[in-house]
Amino acid sequence: MQSQNLTLKPISGFIGAEIQGVDLSQAISDEVVQQIKAALFDYGVIFFRKQNLRPADQIALAERFGEIEVNRFFTPVEGYAQIAEVRKEAHQKHAIGSQWHTDHSYDVAPALGSIFYAVELPPFGGDTAFASMVAAYDHLSDGLKETLDQLKAWHSAMTVFGKNHDNVPPAVLHPIVIRHPETGCKALFVNPVFTTRIDGWTEAESQPLLKYLYEFATQPAFCCRLQWHPGSLAFWDNRITQHLAINDYDGHRRLMHRITLKGRPLSA
Ligand code: SIN
Repeated sequence: MQSQNLTLKPISGFIGAEIQGVDLSQAISDEVVQQIKAALFDYGVIFFRKQNLRPADQIALAERFGEIEVNRFFTPVEGYAQIAEVRKEAHQKHAIGSQWHTDHSYDVAPALGSIFYAVELPPFGGDTAFASMVAAYDHLSDGLKETLDQLKAWHSAMTVFGKNHDNVPPAVLHPIVIRHPETGCKALFVNPVFTTRIDGWTEAESQPLLKYLYEFATQPAFCCRLQWHPGSLAFWDNRITQHLAINDYDGHRRLMHRITLKGRPLSA
């Protein structure tokens, strides 16, 4: 059981830290779990390098942080229903997640986060970018914060998954500004893939404000970018971040294993 001191290196001003000094293929102590959780909540996304995880190790690791959410829409890794494959083949043009988004914001209880592990990487590119929704909220004017604090928005998986799946859940309503369930920090909770409109507003009325928020929230200063290497692992807090798969490696294969953890309903 590992319980050593971890080293934490922030990688940008508002989001992302690399953690060194832990082998995630081995059992980790409760103390290490608490240290990792604290870093996750503080930095929004944490990275580990040079890991060597079999699917069963990734599942065991995830179970230390919560209950696994089995994805309804993604192809699972053979023999491991808990792990979703995020795959782009050399002949494919489209990459999953290549627009800014928050996973599972269409659920009544949006996911806590995801543990994402590099299995096969292209020779270049295929990075993932992350944006801090805490920094985004903090930097809005007091006037806009006051307005947004009162509003809710609808989220739906229909446009993305509706064509190919008949198990798309009904649209759900979440506050536009949520409080992190553990730290109480306020964060913006809208994203361009799953948010459809502001409650009580039409789509046409909602779009200008939502578009402004998406652009504001993903400005470079609130973002970090992970360059993957074999054995890299990212763990993001889905409630306070958005992420984006950078699709710049046509002609090459990229295969990642994603485990998503169940969250709870979010409140303002
Ligand atoms: C995702 O959106 O979960 C995938 C991100 C990535 O492939 O980098």
